[in-house]
Amino acid sequence: MANNSYKPALQKLLTETTFKDYPGDIEKTLVAFDVSDLAHTFVDTAFLISAITFVGEERWLQGKNSTKEILFSKFIKKLFKEELSPVRFLHDFFEESSLEGIAQASRNAVLIEDAVVNLISKKSKEDLRIFSTTTLKLMSELFELEHQLSMAKQELGLHLGLSLYRTFDKLDLVFNLDYLADKGMVSPIGNTERLYEGAGVGVQSGYSTAVTALRYLNLKKGSRFVDLGSGYGRVGLVVGLMRPDIEVIGYEYVPHRVHIATTAAQRLDIDKHVTFLVQDLSAPDFKIPVADTYYIYDSFSEDTYQHVISQLLKIATERKITIVTKGNARQRFETPEQKPHWSSPQELDNGNLCFFRSH
Ligand SMILES: C[S@@+](CC[C@H](N)C(=O)[O-])C[C@H]1O[C@@H](n2cnc3c(N)ncnc32)[C@H](O)[C@@H]1O
Repeated sequence: MANNSYKPALQKLLTETTFKDYPGDIEKTLVAFDVSDLAHTFVDTAFLISAITFVGEERWLQGKNSTKEILFSKFIKKLFKEELSPVRFLHDFFEESSLEGIAQASRNAVLIEDAVVNLISKKSKEDLRIFSTTTLKLMSELFELEHQLSMAKQELGLHLGLSLYRTFDKLDLVFNLDYLADKGMVSPIGNTERLYEGAGVGVQSGYSTAVTALRYLNLKKGSRFVDLGSGYGRVGLVVGLMRPDIEVIGYEYVPHRVHIATTAAQRLDIDKHVTFLVQDLSAPDFKIPVADTYYIYDSFSEDTYQHVISQLLKIATERKITIVTKGNARQRFETPEQKPHWSSPQELDNGNLCFFRSH
């Protein structure tokens, strides 16, 4: 199928009132889609699910703040100019539909998204890699739109718009990142490290964080990227898929997480440049390798942070490096002792994501 020609078929699936045979009815349509169409369908449906929830909330909010009856078509028109612009092809459908029609489309979107994941999981390594890379590129555009819209809204003092932080989490199913593998996990006796047993998706960086970091980092061609405490490997997989020229290494204490991340890299055929290794980063005899970029998301105990940061400082005396922090990890680089060694952080996502560059 050529670019965009999947859209009428997708719209038909979205507006179907019942599927007599699920997933058969949906699969009958999807088999005609090529890998790129499947990626577009995955992104459109995932986006739509979040967008429809947002439309419902907006309508409720605007209704609450207004004494006049809101004209539905006017309200929808405005949303399609901004938040809903990525699914503009559904504009007429939204305008003509009742709220129930839109709710039906949202339910169908969930079913279609699941059918795409199911179908793509049976494809070859190459198809899986093309699907994942295309999906991430499309997501990157949407995250950028979200970023621009939220900055504009913030400037005008308006409440924040559509959030896509968890929108594409089903990509985990394509990568087979099974967080339930933590079940029954016991920390080694006397372990003081922060291993986040059973915390699952909540302590993995959102796809939006990893993709946004990559968009703004401008990584040098052929450089090396290290995730310190790589968990189930989301960040490394995203970097490895979007930048085949970058060498990625993830170090993680918990063996089954490393195993799952490694298996995903192998399935996606990116394991030549993406490696995950079992490593306790608090071990005195382990030396963090030289790299250009280091990623840290709230990984360590107090002592381990000191141990890790002293090594990073040493590396920074020999070459310019960038530390990417997510969440509270930034605070470790903003203490009076650390401040002189790093640039003031470049902040994204309201400071949830920061880049510290060595002088
Ligand atoms: C908050 S998670 C972040 C995972 C991943 N970097 C991401 O952003 O999606 C932190 C990870 O660091 C790991 N970790 C904590 N202490 C560690 C240590 N001493 N050595 C290696 N990994 C460690 C934990 O097991 C956990 O999986």
